[in-house]
Amino acid sequence: MAKLEVNFCGVRVKNPIVASSAEPTLNAHNMKKCIDTGVGGVIAKTMTDSPAMRELTTRSKWRFLNERHEVCRGKVPRAFSLYGRSGLALEEPKEFLKEIKETLKYAAEKEAIVIGSIASTEISGWVELGKQIEGAGVPLIEMNFGCPHPKLMPGIRTGMNVGQDFDHGCEITQAVSEAVSVPIMVKVTPQVTDLVEFSGRLKEAGASAVTLTNRFLGFVPDIETGKPLVYGQAGVGGPWIKPLTLRWINEVRKAYRDEIFIAGTNGAYDWRDVVQFIMSGAHIVEMCSAVMVYGYEWLGKQVRGLEKFMNEKGYDDVDQMRGIASDAAMAYADMPPEKAHVNKELCNNCQRCLKVCFYQAMQDGEDYTWLKEENCIGCGGCYSVCPVPDAIEITVV
Ligand SMILES: Cc1cc2nc3c(=O)[nH]c(=O)nc-3n(C[C@H](O)[C@H](O)[C@H](O)COP(=O)(O)O)c2cc1C
Repeated sequence: MAKLEVNFCGVRVKNPIVASSAEPTLNAHNMKKCIDTGVGGVIAKTMTDSPAMRELTTRSKWRFLNERHEVCRGKVPRAFSLYGRSGLALEEPKEFLKEIKETLKYAAEKEAIVIGSIASTEISGWVELGKQIEGAGVPLIEMNFGCPHPKLMPGIRTGMNVGQDFDHGCEITQAVSEAVSVPIMVKVTPQVTDLVEFSGRLKEAGASAVTLTNRFLGFVPDIETGKPLVYGQAGVGGPWIKPLTLRWINEVRKAYRDEIFIAGTNGAYDWRDVVQFIMSGAHIVEMCSAVMVYGYEWLGKQVRGLEKFMNEKGYDDVDQMRGIASDAAMAYADMPPEKAHVNKELCNNCQRCLKVCFYQAMQDGEDYTWLKEENCIGCGGCYSVCPVPDAIEITVV
């Protein structure tokens, strides 16, 4: 039987799937629902001392969008977007800490962990919130430098406004890490130039882990009304965004290997994605949007799916999968030469490959398509569009 347990920043997590900080972890009631599914842990909705960021949540609204970025009614497709406006935890810290304590008690019985999440607008506030949440008993603190919504609120220096200011982000990280003794993870915004540099600087400043990444800001007009959905710019993400997140996980893994832990978030839809996050280098994977579409039970299905996959593939533990795809990634210069090969017996001469060959390698043979080998560079376009299994193969030459 595969072992799902992972070591994350020195903390034992019974499996790598974690409910990320958002509405499914809004309060003790919701967090318990997540814990009941069998997840490794939950990250509480971000606790804040900013009244403006709390008030925002009372006006939350979101829509699930289809592939054309139109509002879904009923069926939500696999490649959905979650487009929405929201803020941070509703209660002020004194009250929210009670929710955390209640959840911690419940989680202990189920061997799940509860991670605290914080955001302030001043360094002293970050430190104070860090101490308070550590005092409640959490084993890890996530600092939210990624929330996109403060960008839409002039004068509110938190979330993404901090994540885009590397110097200030490092100042906060150093101050909080000196003030608390539990490990700190920093959740960053993807809307920056270089997360490798920032991750390295955060590590130097005292972070044990980076959370790659929070969501983007987007803008979606409704062409019928000429007005934007949900009244304007909003946070946007969904399963389609996964490759962008994995690219950063790949780079941070390459740069720092075991010197920094990685929590992956932004694009994990199901257990297959969780495997891809882990193979890219993530130690734990946080999930939100899919839970907001399908409900809490979705999380449990992914834990079971991950376990089944590992058993079928013969992985003894999560460490055996971690980073293997990142470690196998090659520079352009190291890629072996490849060519297409057309199996004449199977070719039905649909000529789709002809339309997508831009190197004049595919040739019209009237009743079949043939390959002019010297022109083929093995790009693989023909392989992707060919509808007949095995009619086109790409091989190393
Ligand atoms: C409605 C909503 C509220 C969120 N609230 C928070 C929050 O309070 N703190 C935080 O760190 N991230 C927050 N997030 C970001 C999620 O935790 C998560 O990182 C993000 O949605 C990407 O993961 P996903 O692709 O699984 O949705 C929120 C996301 C959504 C959609």
